[in-house]
Amino acid sequence: MSKTKTSFKCSNCSYTTIKWMGCCPECKEWDCLVENIISSNSGPNKIYATTTPPQLISLTSIDTHEQPRILSHIGEWDRVVGGGLVPGSLIVVTGDPGIGKSTLLLQVAYNIAKMHRVFYFSTEESLQQLKGRALRLKTTDNNLLFSDTAELTSIISLAQQEKPDLIIIDSIQNCYINDTHTLPGSTGHLREAAFQLMRLSKEHNITVIITGHITKEGIIAGPKTLEHMVDGVFYLQGEDRWQTRMLRAVKNRFGAINELGFFNMEQNGLQEVPNINAHLISEISHAPGSAIISIMEGSRPILLELQALTNASKLTMPQRVVSGLDHKQVVLIAAILDKYVKIKLSMHDIFFKVSGGFKIKGSESDLGTAFALLSSYFQEALPERSIALGEISLTGQIKPINNIGHLVKEAEKFGITTLLVAKNQTIEKTSCVIRRFHNVYELLSLFGQ
Ligand code: TYD
Ligand code: MG
Repeated sequence: MSKTKTSFKCSNCSYTTIKWMGCCPECKEWDCLVENIISSNSGPNKIYATTTPPQLISLTSIDTHEQPRILSHIGEWDRVVGGGLVPGSLIVVTGDPGIGKSTLLLQVAYNIAKMHRVFYFSTEESLQQLKGRALRLKTTDNNLLFSDTAELTSIISLAQQEKPDLIIIDSIQNCYINDTHTLPGSTGHLREAAFQLMRLSKEHNITVIITGHITKEGIIAGPKTLEHMVDGVFYLQGEDRWQTRMLRAVKNRFGAINELGFFNMEQNGLQEVPNINAHLISEISHAPGSAIISIMEGSRPILLELQALTNASKLTMPQRVVSGLDHKQVVLIAAILDKYVKIKLSMHDIFFKVSGGFKIKGSESDLGTAFALLSSYFQEALPERSIALGEISLTGQIKPINNIGHLVKEAEKFGITTLLVAKNQTIEKTSCVIRRFHNVYELLSLFGQ
């Protein structure tokens, strides 16, 4: 006998229930439960009998001959994606609106189209707008082909017929799928689109790049939900007021994560900055309140300037304004200095930032933070061409950091001559002068008071 079952599925978050409701209890969206009728006139045994069984094969019969990677010859891009794009992979490029995703991808597509077939689907901007950008980037004169269709099924069927090497869909959030119950822009829709593109890339060996904004809902409706479905996720980051843009590999099945690439947003698009440290060091000022640190970003040591400004406060609750670093980390170091060095930072306003719009995490910057604060407090600059490498414990002890060899080697290359480190820090080989500190109290020896 035929049985009919009814369930209701949320088109936003895929929550399923047997009863219709006006508001989804999971994602709190209104009017998004869609009826789903499942009719079954067969018992489970019958299903097994009619399904074609999959084929099993041994691993030795699989050809592992690697296909060459697709290179754009934009060094920073090729390096961050793991040495060029892997044929048949699906990756997401994401970032805030206006950060430069379309600009970067147009440049990458233009370069790749010199050797490969590339289709660019612009679902957000008209072809006229796209041409305007291409003229600015001087990327008009080659075989790169464009379309402004946003319907995913037709994009996929075109790709199946034409078999290009690479397709770019800018952006996935603006794509819609005909004949689907999911709402455009919803999580369910995004997942379905990604699933269909994953099949396209794997079954037809076509590389697919999609872009996605970090929406206000961020984690729920944004590209975050796609992370586990795709081969790679790359964030383009930076601050509007700074020109520097960083491309960071957050997930990469074919390369290292946390790999970083640097670009400058200029009049004619994103220009790669292969030597970021030379660029950063040239902007560092030797002045009170400034301390240089070096930290690992992916496989690269980066030299950064920390800047502090401390002023006797007129407020009962002195201000702490921090950017580029965890606010609590700076407050903590100030509290440690207050306690063990007996300076009155608790009665000072503190303004603190990492130069160049960089954001750093972790405690490798502790010693640099302490030096920047002390240097501003005493209005005395640190020794010229020095870097601070160390963590600070709650008891005021200076602790060594790992992998210092790499950091020191890179720092030497850029003219650093003094290392400010923990007492028991091991350093293998260096031509720099080493100043060692056991605890925060000893940091005062650098200031002539
Ligand atoms: P865009 O690539 O459209 O950002 P997204 O796709 O991430 O939303 O970049 C837009 C910004 O980049 C815009 O503010 C203008 C700036 N820009 C330049 O400074 N130089 C250029 O050559 C181009 C094309 C854009
Ligand atoms: Mg865009």
